[in-house]
Amino acid sequence: MAEYNLAIIGGDGVGPEVIAEGRKTLEALSSSGGPTFRFTEFPWGSDYYRETGRLMPEDGLELLSGFDAILFGAVGDPNIPDHITLHGLLLPMRRGFDQGICVRPAYLYPGVESPLAGKKAGDIDMVIFRENTEGEYAPVGGRLNTGTPHETVIQSNVFTRRGTERIIRAAFEHCIRRNKRMKVTSVTKSNAQSFGMVFWDEVFEDVAADYPQVETESLLVDRACMDFVRWPEDFDVVVASNLFADILSDIAAVVSGSMGLAPSANINPDKVHPSLFEPVHGAAFDIMGKGIANPLATVSAVAMMLDHFGEAEAAARVDAAVARCLEERRVLTADLGGNASTAQMGDEAARLVREG
Ligand code: NAI
Ligand code: MG
Repeated sequence: MAEYNLAIIGGDGVGPEVIAEGRKTLEALSSSGGPTFRFTEFPWGSDYYRETGRLMPEDGLELLSGFDAILFGAVGDPNIPDHITLHGLLLPMRRGFDQGICVRPAYLYPGVESPLAGKKAGDIDMVIFRENTEGEYAPVGGRLNTGTPHETVIQSNVFTRRGTERIIRAAFEHCIRRNKRMKVTSVTKSNAQSFGMVFWDEVFEDVAADYPQVETESLLVDRACMDFVRWPEDFDVVVASNLFADILSDIAAVVSGSMGLAPSANINPDKVHPSLFEPVHGAAFDIMGKGIANPLATVSAVAMMLDHFGEAEAAARVDAAVARCLEERRVLTADLGGNASTAQMGDEAARLVREG
């Protein structure tokens, strides 16, 4: 059986709480005939920042570079500005390890109620492909004459042909592998953003020409937000820039029942660097420390990691455990109408993994 060497960064808020449950899932796999894992924990995040002035050490990427993958919780602290925490820990890993492909599935499971009326299990079944290293999140810009009436701020968006084509092509390839609705929707705002987003639309058309069997659609982001709410069943694979796909994946997660169910993979497609797996949600200040965060987003992220390793059977076992846990509705956290703790739901998922 293969052994995988995992870097574990629980981070902040509910991050460490849900990551502990992701580890239980992996241990359950190992103890029932699956692959084995070596865990190395890194105590990085906001407490580390308070002690050292940095969210992660200067040589943090070097320390992580030899691992097979990174399992990440969340970053964010009520007392530290969000741009410092996010740019201090998560974004450097995504960019430094060239994790240009972010994959975020959203699925309405049997047993889970959507806040949208009349949606039944499987009606929402989409995968969002998020450009993950550039776009609106590139740290390019500046601020001058701060605090004066002449204060001037520039925040630039960066779109490269390599990065744009790479994410769009990955979306089409996934659409074909997935073989469901065979449709890719690209989301931009090219009516207003006449350089980067017009460029994106052009690259989308170019790449689409290579996949004549796939239906395509190009939406403006405001329209896409509407359609995610009024007819989410219309979407199969969605591809968008760093910012737009970030916003759209939160909408997709809540209409599918909970932020606590949405996983995310940050993939380095060249496999030169480790990829990073995490829940879509953040530090969740309103529930942190209460032990009530839903751990299944992290458990599903673990399944995505196993899939990335080529461990299809183990991944399927974890996915099936998540689906059964939700359908049986015996052990559920508060976001899904239950009163179980994070640890109880993690135990249940691990038990179902072992039962396989
Ligand atoms: P959030 O995703 O942390 O929380 C949004 C809402 O979803 C809250 O009501 C929260 O209670 C709920 N929620 C989140 N995870 C849940 C779970 N596992 N189970 C049940 N409910 C859950 O987003 P918010 O409030 O905008 O951000 C809080 C902090 O997290 C900020 O500092 C932000 O910068 C950071 N953040 C970090 C991310 C990351 O590390 N990948 C992603 C998003 C936000
Ligand atoms: Mg987000």
